[in-house]
Amino acid sequence: MHHFTYKGGVLHAEGVDLEAIAKEVGTPVYVYSAATIERHYRAFASAFAGLDAHVFYAMKANSNLAVLRLLGNLGAGADTVSEGEVRRALAAGIPASRIVLSGVGKVDSELAYAVDAGIYQVNVETEGELHALSRVASARGKRQPIVFRINPDVGAGGHAKITTGSSENKFGVSIEEAERLYAVAANLPGIALEGLAMHIGSQIRSIHEFGPAFGRLRALTVRLRESGHRVSRLDLGGGLGIPYEMSEAVSHGPDLIETYAALVRNTFGPLEVEIGLEPGRIIVGNAGVLLTRIVHENNRPRKTFLVVDAGMNDLVRPAMYEAFHDIWPTREPGPDAERRTFDVVGPICESSDTFAEARDLPVMKTGDLMAFMTAGAYGAAMSSNYNTRPLVPEVLVSGSSYAVVRPRQSFEELLAQDRIPGWL
Ligand code: LLP
Repeated sequence: MHHFTYKGGVLHAEGVDLEAIAKEVGTPVYVYSAATIERHYRAFASAFAGLDAHVFYAMKANSNLAVLRLLGNLGAGADTVSEGEVRRALAAGIPASRIVLSGVGKVDSELAYAVDAGIYQVNVETEGELHALSRVASARGKRQPIVFRINPDVGAGGHAKITTGSSENKFGVSIEEAERLYAVAANLPGIALEGLAMHIGSQIRSIHEFGPAFGRLRALTVRLRESGHRVSRLDLGGGLGIPYEMSEAVSHGPDLIETYAALVRNTFGPLEVEIGLEPGRIIVGNAGVLLTRIVHENNRPRKTFLVVDAGMNDLVRPAMYEAFHDIWPTREPGPDAERRTFDVVGPICESSDTFAEARDLPVMKTGDLMAFMTAGAYGAAMSSNYNTRPLVPEVLVSGSSYAVVRPRQSFEELLAQDRIPGWL
């Protein structure tokens, strides 16, 4: 459920008219609903009540400082994947004691930053990283709490490019390797070995995909304990999917969060272990839209293109993963509104800059506004300056008020990033 609805014929985010935001802030613009973020966070966190569960919001999904502050105020920790993300989480007021650092390619300086900050946990992915971290931490007279990321060899997720848990993927170590490395890690001076981690993929809509991976993690935990090791934490990663199509949202059956929490409870409850969770998309995905204006129509013999002012640099998911985003006009179409088939495309000089192909939509014309729905996760966070287009602004709505939480980048700021060497 989200808080984007038509009121008086115009699409609103909570109590705020999206056309008013477009007028004031311009387009394209990302608009987030604080009430939706809060609702999802609370639904997620409360589903694990009774377990010793910690929620680390996977901030790669949406790392705007205001979004982080909102979630931090609700009690969320942060799952980070770079020094930059650790810095962002801290800047938003999330304490180091609620920050975990994941990622396959952490460099020494990043590890040092995390150790100095005193973060809760590093999710170690390779043997090399284990030794590097031990060196970095022991040089500082510290022991860094870690969990070891295993690759359960169960691929899952909405698209091949976001599957991480198969042995074909670069993430984590195999279960056999984990048993050997666990013994190595237990004896390293800079390491406080706490447990295991996994994350099998993203946009997973079927609970059955988690079952086998969880089963392997539990079996490994039991084996390690039997060999005398301490396993006090299990970090289960993120990956819960969300409906991107309205029809799916209606028919999506028993609540996925509840079913997932029940699986976690049944699998790991008896182990008396601390559980880490790293949800990203399910917290912020449908809490955001990308608002864009039609700048031209291009009527070709077999197609009508609606050219909008947002491009694949602003929202790359359709180009990168063939992702589907619902399109809602800001003007509510009446029940008898004329519909036609359109291709909705951006201004970028690539054919992949396509948001919708042969989509049946209410008739819209140049100057009209539309919202790409469910763009709160991996939208602004993945945007770029491709084609020298300034990063788009982000707006956070709460009730009947809103704030610009990232202003539109100016051309001056954009150009000021480059340097021309003196010899040119
Ligand atoms: N934990 C780890 C270790 C991850 O790699 C990820 C996502 C998450 C947690 C959060 O997963 P979520 O709950 O959001 O599914 N850009 C893609 C998604 C990439 C996900 C990468 N890892 C997209 O737009 O669909």
